Amino acid sequence: MQPMLLALILGFSAISTAMSAELPPYRRPDLPVDQRVADLLSRMTLEEKIDQLHQCGVGDANPNNLIQRADELRATYGSFMTAGDLALRNALQRRAVEQTRLGIPAIFGADVIHGYRTIFPIPLAQACAWDADLLRHACRSAAESARADGLDWTFAPMVDHGVDPRWGRIAETFGESPYAGSVFAAAAVTGYQEGPQGIAACLKHYVGYGASEGGRDYSSTEIAPQRLWEMHLPPFEAGVRAGALTVMSAFNDLNGVPASANHYTLTEVLRQRWGFQGFVVSDWGAVQQLIQQGYAADEADAAQLALLAGVDLDMADGLYRQHLAGLIAAGRVPLAAVDEAVSRILRVKFERGLFEQPFVAPSALTGAAPTPAQLDLAEEFAARAMVLLKNTGVLPLGPEVRRLALIGPLATDQAALLGSWAQQGRAAEVASIEAGLRERLPAGVSLRGAPGCPIEGGGREGFDAAVALARESDAVVLCLGESAGMSGENASRSTLRLPGLQEELALVVAAAGKPVVLLVVSGRPVELAAVEPKMAAILAVWQPGTRGGAAVADLLLGRRNPSGRLSVTWPRTSGQIPIYHNMRPRARTGKEGAYQDIDTSPLYEFGHGLSYTTFAYGPIRLARPTVKPGETLTAEVTVTNTGKRDGIETVLWFIRDPAASITRPLKDLKHFESASIAAGASRGFRFEIDPARDLSFPDADGHRIIEPGEIILFAGPETARFNVGP
Ligand code: GLC
Repeated sequence: MQPMLLALILGFSAISTAMSAELPPYRRPDLPVDQRVADLLSRMTLEEKIDQLHQCGVGDANPNNLIQRADELRATYGSFMTAGDLALRNALQRRAVEQTRLGIPAIFGADVIHGYRTIFPIPLAQACAWDADLLRHACRSAAESARADGLDWTFAPMVDHGVDPRWGRIAETFGESPYAGSVFAAAAVTGYQEGPQGIAACLKHYVGYGASEGGRDYSSTEIAPQRLWEMHLPPFEAGVRAGALTVMSAFNDLNGVPASANHYTLTEVLRQRWGFQGFVVSDWGAVQQLIQQGYAADEADAAQLALLAGVDLDMADGLYRQHLAGLIAAGRVPLAAVDEAVSRILRVKFERGLFEQPFVAPSALTGAAPTPAQLDLAEEFAARAMVLLKNTGVLPLGPEVRRLALIGPLATDQAALLGSWAQQGRAAEVASIEAGLRERLPAGVSLRGAPGCPIEGGGREGFDAAVALARESDAVVLCLGESAGMSGENASRSTLRLPGLQEELALVVAAAGKPVVLLVVSGRPVELAAVEPKMAAILAVWQPGTRGGAAVADLLLGRRNPSGRLSVTWPRTSGQIPIYHNMRPRARTGKEGAYQDIDTSPLYEFGHGLSYTTFAYGPIRLARPTVKPGETLTAEVTVTNTGKRDGIETVLWFIRDPAASITRPLKDLKHFESASIAAGASRGFRFEIDPARDLSFPDADGHRIIEPGEIILFAGPETARFNVGP
């Protein structure tokens, strides 16, 4: 190296060393994060510490209101909830970084649940694709767009147990399998947080929210401790193991101790058992709600209970800001507890690089419309997520269909396809079902529409035109279901019946005598018992996102082969709820203990889904008849595509332990794998059974138990038995 160059380098490094030596430790990225946290904490006043524990919930994220309301938006707040406005975000951040004593950056979060501007299918539908890589890719894509608009953090993935379709938020869950929920939780966390444009993930709603009594949102939840560990905690643990940086505490009262003040779950389990190092944010107003729930006597009490239980950042209600100083002065909250909460938040901010790069530079994605790549991904995901529930052979639509009737209130509705958490998604950018069909119908096929009736309300005045159109057509595509607001938060319904007059419309249209393909646009399973017999085919479209209509058209026309499989049980009636695949066995079988007025089985089982091809399963092959703890046992099955079309098959591996010290589910999903199999070809699927992971079960305090005895293994229609040795 040239002497001059060497001298320059040495000179620069000496200067930078001298400069960094002058910087306070918390400003030095070369130092360990814990050292930076400790240094910064030592410099903070109590007021600055308490402000770090406040997230400013901005109901109206109107940039003008926010900036003008500077008095309410103190520059020292720890976090802001904004989305869709990079300039606003950077303006708020500039105040935090340049106009405060210590220049602590804020962290900006929002709900990026299933897409940012390009909207993917709702999570309940995503899970029906049984493809963790696709889900991870979608989360990463959403994160890149959200980051470009200035977000550092998403309040996702939602990994609550989705088992009660009356609960509007089942739409946001990955369904009823804790195993599948765990796989998808980890995939989502990784997708959101990985890469240079990653954003912090947030596992929510911790914990037990999916058991809201009666499916009524915000209700209490009565969950036996063993069931909490079996059904509700696993996806959160998987998300923590995947490196989730934050967790959101839930609204629900959990067995008499609200989740946002529950020391057992928030500290003993989440931190002491799982080693979670990030921070916990309360759900919107959940601290204040402790009063309504009868757990806190007043606001100060609520703040004390939440903080001491393990909630670090208070979303929106401001109780930490208003009461923590007084609680410390009164000796009700030790300063050390506040310091611990502040440290957790600062640690995440340091780890996310917010001190070095507090601002987000505009990029090609900032405020941008969906890119072709994002739209292609959304269309792929939408098509993979849809589930063909019934098909008497009318699908895919063949050349005999020259006149197609498109009937129903969801045929042209764009907003309904976005679902309830569409963030920056725009209805105008959504491919409706009608648009999708018009875009893809072969030349010469006519498409005429009639709404028939509105989604809800209205009268029968549109029936005649719909029936007349059906009579003049070769086939009917009937688009029924829910509006976006009929699922999601605070959207519980007492019945799963199709809203309004839609069920009646289905029956009169079917009476016209032409084959009817029913498309169900919804955020939940809906009651179809009355109409199912009259339908030639039924496709669960869910809320498929921006490219939903195009994906529907591809499936109806056979350009794609349906491959979705239900992530949730589809009840016959609301009265069957709760009904799910991993129930414990009944004391009696057959008609004993069943409903005497209807078939006790669901309309469609968990894992149900048809294809335009057929798959045949060979017998399950086990490497040996017994496995001991510490060993693994290989199970394999060969699946053959016996049809004429290539198709994707998902092999779901379930186990059942027929005799255990804690009764085990009838079927318990423990592994799954999806693969494309060419027509006529065969493919092997393998499950490496690890007894500790796959055959153990939790007791009431989450300690894993594994017991010797027989295990029944299921894959498709095949079963096999093996023994767990001592
Ligand atoms: C809502 C939801 C939660 C969301 C938060 C912020 O009440 O329960 O899922 O992340 O508030 O919008």
